[in-house]
Formats: sequence, C-alpha cells, structure tokens
Amino acid sequence: MISMQRSVANKTAGYPRIGSGTDQARPLIELKHVSKTYHTVAGDFSALKNIDLAIESGEFVAIVGKSGSGKTTLINVLTGIDRPSSGEVHIAGTPVHQLDEGQLAIWRGATLGIVFQFFQLLPTLTVLENVRLPMDFCNQYTSSERNERAMSLLRLVGIEEFAHQLPSQLSGGQQQSAAIARSLANDPQIVVTDEPTGNLDAHTAEQVFDLLIRLAASGKTVLMVTHDDDLASRAGRVITLQDGEIV
Ligand SMILES: Nc1ncnc2c1ncn2[C@@H]1O[C@H](COP(=O)(O)OP(=O)(O)O)[C@@H](O)[C@H]1O
Ligand SMILES: [Mg+2]
Repeated sequence: MISMQRSVANKTAGYPRIGSGTDQARPLIELKHVSKTYHTVAGDFSALKNIDLAIESGEFVAIVGKSGSGKTTLINVLTGIDRPSSGEVHIAGTPVHQLDEGQLAIWRGATLGIVFQFFQLLPTLTVLENVRLPMDFCNQYTSSERNERAMSLLRLVGIEEFAHQLPSQLSGGQQQSAAIARSLANDPQIVVTDEPTGNLDAHTAEQVFDLLIRLAASGKTVLMVTHDDDLASRAGRVITLQDGEIV
C-alpha cells in the first residue's frame, strides 16, 4: 500500500507564504470571524455569519445541515474557491484569504485534495490519465514516477483494473473512487469533499465513506459535507450549519 503520509518540508517549499508562516501552536485549519454575503438582484444574502472554526491535523470532520444552510459556501471559502466577505482563513500557516488567484491555484494544488458530488472526471481521458493530471500541473513528481503513483492510488481505492478505461465505463461508485484517487495525486495534507456520496446508492456510499475513514486513519485530515446523518455520526466530529451559523 502506498504511503499517504506527506512530507511537510517538501510540500511547503516553492509556494508563497505571507505573514507569519507555519505556527505549530495553531490548528491546521482555522477560520476566524468568517462571513460571506452574496449580492444578488434580490438583495444581499448572508450565507455565512461570523464563523469561527478550528480543525486539528488528522481529524475527520463531517459538516451537516439542511440544503441552503451554507455547507458548500463554507467549503468554497475554506478551499479558496471563493473568498470570504470578511474574516480570515488560515490553513497550515498560510493565510488563504490573502492569496491572489495565481498563488491560490498553486497552494490548492499542493495542499488540498477536493472531491465533488458529481466526480468531475474528464470524460476523454482514461481513469489513469485523470489521476495523473494533477501531478502534471504540480510538478512534484518526476514524469516517470507519475504513472506508477497514479496506478498505486488506483490500487489503493480498489479500481486498478479500470486504469485504462474511460470514466463513462465505470459505475458511479468506481468513478467516485477514481475522483478520490485523483484528489490524492499530489499527496495533500487535507482532503475536502462536498457530498461525495450524494449521488451514490447506500451500499456504494458506505464503501466510499470507508475509504475516507481509511484516509483519515492514515493521517489525512478529512472534511466531508454530507446529508447522511448515519455516515456523519461515524466521523470524529460533526459540525452542523443552520442559516450560515454553526449550531
Ligand atoms: N453564488 C451565489 N449567489 C447567491 N446566492 C448564493 C450563491 N451560492 C449560494 N447562495 C445561497 O447561499 C445559501 C447557502 O448555499 P450553499 O452554501 O450552497 O448551501 P448548502 O451547500 O448547505 O446547500 C443558499 O441560500 C444559496 O441559495
Ligand atoms: Mg451544497
């Protein structure tokens, strides 16, 4: 089995740090007074209201709440996909809210694995090529290491026999496993998933969830948005959002 541990020194070299850098006393993920307001033609809408949140390295955190409670907004702000209207997001010593777009892309590629509900595999690439792609962007592994590593990750998630197939030839659960393998391509410290089992039947959802549990057990920090209270109750911690607030 391929090691899922990361080398911190290796991963933090070469991308910009602003501010104080890594502070060992700080939680791995820290949100301070984070608010997000969407400005729409119908008026302003507060999707996140003064969120304070600290997550330690190695935690498995489930984020639950009704549709529209702000779960995806929280994930987007945390991953730098979207910016907070106010407040601070610190991840592994990096003030994410201060990075510009170019810095964000580099930082995200090296630090986060992101898994979406609808897999978002590229349909014209094979499964192996999909898993290899983030390595080609990040340049952390040599060209010859990449295929071997992609294959190891497919083995890790149990779908190596589909390596040379197109995503459309796989079942939903297999595609999500491929998406998880892809999220691990650059050996991120943190895996963030928004409704990863939302499009899967209960049995397959269970298998994908077990895979995330294994990642957390191996030392990854895992954040999972889910509608499934049974699955959430098996995470190390459950955070419930309601109308943009943690309750
Ligand atoms: N880009 C946007 N523009 C305006 N309103 C938005 C936007 N994205 C989300 N919202 C609103 O913010 C609230 C929270 O959305 P979201 O974070 O997607 O909730 P959840 O993921 O919990 O279903 C919802 O009321 C949604 O309609
Ligand atoms: Mg959502």
